[in-house]
Amino acid sequence: MAAIAVIGTGYVGLVSGTCLADFGNRVTCVDSDAGKIESLRNGIIPIYESGLEDLVRANVRAGRLFFTTDTARTVRQSDAVFIAVGTPPRDDGGADLQYVESAARDIGRAMENYTVIVDKSTVPIGTARRVRRWVEEELSIRRAGVPFDVVSNPEFLREGTAVYDFTHPDRVVIGSESEKARELMKEVYRSLYLNETPYIETNLESAEMIKYASNAFLAVKIGYINEIANLCEKVGADVQDVAKAMGRDGRIGAKFLHPGPGYGGSCFPKDTRAIAAAGRENHSPLSIIEAAIAANEKQKTAMVEKIETGLGGPGSLNGKTIAILGLSFKQNTDDMRESPAIDICRNLVKKGARLRLSDPAAFAEAKWRLADIEQNCFYAENEYLAAEGAHALAILTPWNQYRGLDLGRIKSLFSNPKTGPDAKTARPCFFDFRNIYKREDVEAAGLAYWGVGK
Ligand SMILES: NC(=O)c1ccc[n+]([C@@H]2O[C@H](COP(=O)([O-])OP(=O)(O)OC[C@H]3O[C@@H](n4cnc5c(N)ncnc54)[C@H](O)[C@@H]3O)[C@@H](O)[C@H]2O)c1
Repeated sequence: MAAIAVIGTGYVGLVSGTCLADFGNRVTCVDSDAGKIESLRNGIIPIYESGLEDLVRANVRAGRLFFTTDTARTVRQSDAVFIAVGTPPRDDGGADLQYVESAARDIGRAMENYTVIVDKSTVPIGTARRVRRWVEEELSIRRAGVPFDVVSNPEFLREGTAVYDFTHPDRVVIGSESEKARELMKEVYRSLYLNETPYIETNLESAEMIKYASNAFLAVKIGYINEIANLCEKVGADVQDVAKAMGRDGRIGAKFLHPGPGYGGSCFPKDTRAIAAAGRENHSPLSIIEAAIAANEKQKTAMVEKIETGLGGPGSLNGKTIAILGLSFKQNTDDMRESPAIDICRNLVKKGARLRLSDPAAFAEAKWRLADIEQNCFYAENEYLAAEGAHALAILTPWNQYRGLDLGRIKSLFSNPKTGPDAKTARPCFFDFRNIYKREDVEAAGLAYWGVGK
């Protein structure tokens, strides 16, 4: 089995490293964040990811998984070095490659024997060749003629189901120009290869493009169903029936047809912007992706407008208390990067609302990400405490515990409903922005129901 280094021990690096160790490889995860490595050495997992803690412990115990800050030593002991550092967006939308460059140069400074360098991070098309140049520059400074290959091996795991996704991928993509490197990658992924997981072997540029084109396609699909949902509301259609029927069409597929408050997370927003920037740089406009990016921004604003309308129209948010259920960009993760909750919370506060926030995992992140509005935020221990004294409740993330709320109890905890001529505004409002409730059930509890697209 191969000796592997993974540089960058975040969501992707830690999950990939742990699963590759579970496949039988000897894996050392490296990170420049000494605190993170120290925690991992003490068995503390820095991220919320189902099944990960047990898998880390089991592989550490089996002597297959190690954590260190010593990149040079680890690189020297490895057959393959995975680069899994962050590639955050620059101001112009393109990907910031400073961490990839720094990892590549660290490898070039340390490497002593033939090494396969694997780009696991999501990177713009052409990056594998730039990695090669950065490594060559460092080797030439050392006057060292160490042979190496660069492979592009994009990752498709989803936060929340990352361990399952890594161990049951729909496909493994290997972009490479070297037979020797391809053989080593087969060794690294031997367990999957034996399970007949589809292997797509292609050139470097195609592998890099596959990742961006896939993520952008999914983002477009979400943007599409969100816009269809908004039209459904205007014309009296129910988007859930529409999406269900569309999804039965094998050419369309049922996944990613769930309307909501807009996509977020560490991937879709940045990857759509990065591929759109590549389109502009190469004079090959990606107008559909550009439109999806704009539609996603509008969707977040539309949710705030919906709450304002529900509470009585323009100005009605002033002085109101809104319970927010869910802050992470999706369920089963603590990750709030580009979560729609951030913009929605800020805009609600801008319009004069106070917020009572609930989330089972994201508070630590929320407290610094929403520090600018902290005076208007109360962090509630659970969803019922969040509803206490609120005028409305909005579900932003479909965590399981929000799917079976005691609606009668929620109603009793709400602030006394104001009375008025409009029946809609006379009742406290329940904004189900993930469409996880039936209108009848919510209305039967005496709450006004607002979904997305129905
Ligand atoms: N998060 C996801 O769901 C997901 C899925 C697929 C692909 N990706 C891609 O994978 C890459 C990593 O994403 P992530 O979410 O794991 O990021 P992350 O921010 O969680 O982790 C990156 C880690 O790299 C470390 N790091 C940065 N520079 C380093 C260096 N020179 N040496 C050692 N460590 C260094 C950081 O300290 C951090 O711990 C990105 O390109 C992302 O687009 C992410």
